[in-house]
Amino acid sequence: MSRVLVTGTSSGFGRAIVEHFLDRDWEVVATMRTPSPEDLPVSGNLRLLRLDVTDATSIAEAVVEAGPLDALVNNAGVGMLNVLEGAEINRARELFETNVLGAMAMTRAVMPGMRARGGGVIVNISSSVTLRPLPALSIYSASKAALNMFTESFALEAAEFGIRARLVLPGSAPETSFGRNAVARMGMDVPEEYGAFVKAYFQSLQVATEKTRASDVAQAVWRAVTDEGAPMMLPAGADAETWFREEGRTAA
Ligand SMILES: NC(=O)c1ccc[n+]([C@@H]2O[C@H](COP(=O)([O-])OP(=O)(O)OC[C@H]3O[C@@H](n4cnc5c(N)ncnc54)[C@H](OP(=O)(O)O)[C@@H]3O)[C@@H](O)[C@H]2O)c1
Repeated sequence: MSRVLVTGTSSGFGRAIVEHFLDRDWEVVATMRTPSPEDLPVSGNLRLLRLDVTDATSIAEAVVEAGPLDALVNNAGVGMLNVLEGAEINRARELFETNVLGAMAMTRAVMPGMRARGGGVIVNISSSVTLRPLPALSIYSASKAALNMFTESFALEAAEFGIRARLVLPGSAPETSFGRNAVARMGMDVPEEYGAFVKAYFQSLQVATEKTRASDVAQAVWRAVTDEGAPMMLPAGADAETWFREEGRTAA
């Protein structure tokens, strides 16, 4: 039976990815900063481990406890909705610690095992915000753009050992707690000077009819892991697919 480790499974996409792989008879190592089994389905193929991707000891312990892995999904992430002047640099640092360095550290930690086994897949959850510049998202978008380039470059190193790295770019998914979590963790003190601009921008987003569902992301991750011919970047969700086409990207 194949085994996948998923980060950030307390909610949203992470939980949907766990369910998708369990339904297809994979062994799943679900990980959370604060493990709460009640947030996950009951299954003999599921193990729940504590993991904070910003904590080196936590990473080392979880990777040892997980055992051999066929796939790693770096899903844990934090959002930030604010203009640059409204964001404290320490918050930006915290966001990069999770979204960029956390994924790098996890990838680095699983590589020796995957190399020894002669294969594996690492899927990093990026975002459709990297497809075009957007206001009030500059710090978050920069973190995901860094993740993109890291993944594409690292993939060339990993290929030497039969290991694949892929990116999934979800669109906007109001069904997850992402926006609420972003505001709760990062604050949203928009400077007065930008107030009207940010309000008008967020209102313009409300009219978008195409959305991403957690199941779209789980399906894209499944394809990235199981289809050796999957492209480097997989948009997930109707809105992400539209942007991908509009930006002239092809899933090749
Ligand atoms: N929802 C969207 O519109 C959207 C769109 C594009 C991309 N994404 C990306 O998709 C991923 C999942 O987002 P989501 O929508 O499912 O949001 P979510 O419900 O807020 O889930 C984010 C998960 O990341 C975990 N996490 C945060 N910091 C962590 C850390 N240091 N170590 C381990 N886990 C940590 C959270 O756990 P805690 O409960 O412990 O905080 C939570 O389980 C993120 O990478 C996000 O950037 C989301």
